[in-house]
Amino acid sequence: GRPHGRAAKGLRFEPVAPNTADKVTVPKGYEQNIVIRWGEPILRGAPDFDPERQSAKAQAGQFGYNNDFLTLLPLSSRHRGHGADQLLVANHEYTDEVLMFAGYDPEKPTREQVEIAWAAHGLSVVAVSGERRTGALRAVPRHPLNRRVTATTPFELTGPAAGSPLLRTKADPRGRRVLGTLNNCSGGTTPWGTVLSGEENFNQYFANAEKVTDPERAATLKRYGVTGGASERRWEEFDERFDLTEEPNEVHRFGWVVELDPYDPDSTPRKHTALGRFKHEAAQPRLSRDGHAVVYMGDDERFDYFYKFVSKKTMRRGHSAADRRHNLSLLDEGTLYVAKLTGESPAEEIDGTGTLPEDGEFDGTGRWIPLASGDRSYVEGMTAEEVYVFTRMAADKAGATKMDRPEDIEPSPRTGRVYVALTNNTDRGKEGKPGADEANPRHGNKHGQVLEFAERGNDPRARSFSWRLFLVCGDPEDPGTYFGGFPKDQVSPISCPDNVTFDDFGNLWLSTDGNKLGSHDGLFGVATAGSRRGEVRQFLTVPTGAETCGPLVQDRRVLVAVQHPGEVDGASVEQPASSWPDGPGSYVRPAVVAVWPKDGSDVGR
Ligand code: FEO
Ligand code: CA
Ligand code: CA
Ligand code: CA
Repeated sequence: GRPHGRAAKGLRFEPVAPNTADKVTVPKGYEQNIVIRWGEPILRGAPDFDPERQSAKAQAGQFGYNNDFLTLLPLSSRHRGHGADQLLVANHEYTDEVLMFAGYDPEKPTREQVEIAWAAHGLSVVAVSGERRTGALRAVPRHPLNRRVTATTPFELTGPAAGSPLLRTKADPRGRRVLGTLNNCSGGTTPWGTVLSGEENFNQYFANAEKVTDPERAATLKRYGVTGGASERRWEEFDERFDLTEEPNEVHRFGWVVELDPYDPDSTPRKHTALGRFKHEAAQPRLSRDGHAVVYMGDDERFDYFYKFVSKKTMRRGHSAADRRHNLSLLDEGTLYVAKLTGESPAEEIDGTGTLPEDGEFDGTGRWIPLASGDRSYVEGMTAEEVYVFTRMAADKAGATKMDRPEDIEPSPRTGRVYVALTNNTDRGKEGKPGADEANPRHGNKHGQVLEFAERGNDPRARSFSWRLFLVCGDPEDPGTYFGGFPKDQVSPISCPDNVTFDDFGNLWLSTDGNKLGSHDGLFGVATAGSRRGEVRQFLTVPTGAETCGPLVQDRRVLVAVQHPGEVDGASVEQPASSWPDGPGSYVRPAVVAVWPKDGSDVGR
């Protein structure tokens, strides 16, 4: 029984037990369908998926690989043809060639394989149609708004660093036009109806950093994790822009937040230099009361930072073409800040085990340190352009707080409080590395934590905030865990929070990546307010080798992106670790899944 009564509204389902099943396991009474898989045709003329005869041309018209971020946007009556009622936008973070190509030789990829990988990266826009009687969702192929953006689609660089000498290349001497987007992890949906997407681990695509001798360049490459000789995928053998000895600046043209207008399939997507360059996990916008756009962003690296951007201009509410143009320029101009946190408890009470300090909470205050605003730099010794292109180094100089891998960040639409997933940091407290602090209180942090902060006066533009840890993740039986003060014998174990979203009741939903508790990754819901605050409940688990991404919780359904199923050391097409979703004998395929209550009620009611 449940001595503390029923779960919070929206979370009334029987939690799924931790498990290692090679499938998506959902609560009793729930059903699921595959919305779309890697390789399904979405553009006119694209062929059906045939992994033995895959081509770059086919892939460029098909759903990409490794779906991460998901969002659903409304379709106006003008665009509702073919039964479509919403527009799904998905990120394709990276390719896993050994699971995509039979007989793949990592030392000798073929040109076709490389070009397939270019076409499998990027973003997909796909119209979807909800089934009337169930929560099932289906892709609508060949819808006029369907679009693929890949590693070769032209992008425009915008904002204060566009055109900078740091961004100029042989192919683009003006420094304003980039081909493609890479490693798009999570993202956000803007109040003006566009999609933001974070370019995350772009470092892995660039070769021959070890041959760069100029000490200043070598230092910037190192700070961004660009190292070594040949790149993992050897793209440099097929396009010299990926070779740092041939094209020193191409690497500066990745690591940005990109913005896509999904309602205009002919629009040129943009890379926003005003939002800084780092390993962008995601970008989550909100509006201040007076209409300024504020974007929260995490830099997913051990001991890196989280940031916010505040736009100079305010959003227009109208729907004219001029209003839309105006809103699409909101992220071109503003101020970029980085977070510095101060703990409230005496430092000696933070012992690295996760034991709560005497005042019973990991908490404190924070400041937003400005780094640059338009052409003005606030960082000594760096120009504004340098701050935008080498944002990590600017934040180092500003003395920002080194966090445990900031992933997704999202404000609660109910309370305005903001939640930051800090996924893990096994280097915390290691020899020569920063030790525990009140916001990152565990040494060798395997399971991560969720930080909650409130902007001063609940104003997204505020320069200061207060914070506390909402969850210190792990096995609830481990004394170094904390679940918002909720009794720990009644919560689901959770490890490595990554993506976050909210349902209409203000519950926080967290998906995980890299569960270190021996079970597969999953999706969890947790109340953030009221008597059930901190009651983590597991909603689903994903197949072998997969991480759970892109959660979206609508009234009737939950949507998740099952990213990199079957990605297990040593696995290949010939020796698969998973055959999800189509069963033995088929290629394992990343896919988007919808889950809904069988009885037609709303999720968690
Ligand atoms: Fe692509 Fe930070 O996860
Ligand atoms: Ca405290
Ligand atoms: Ca992520
Ligand atoms: Ca992650």
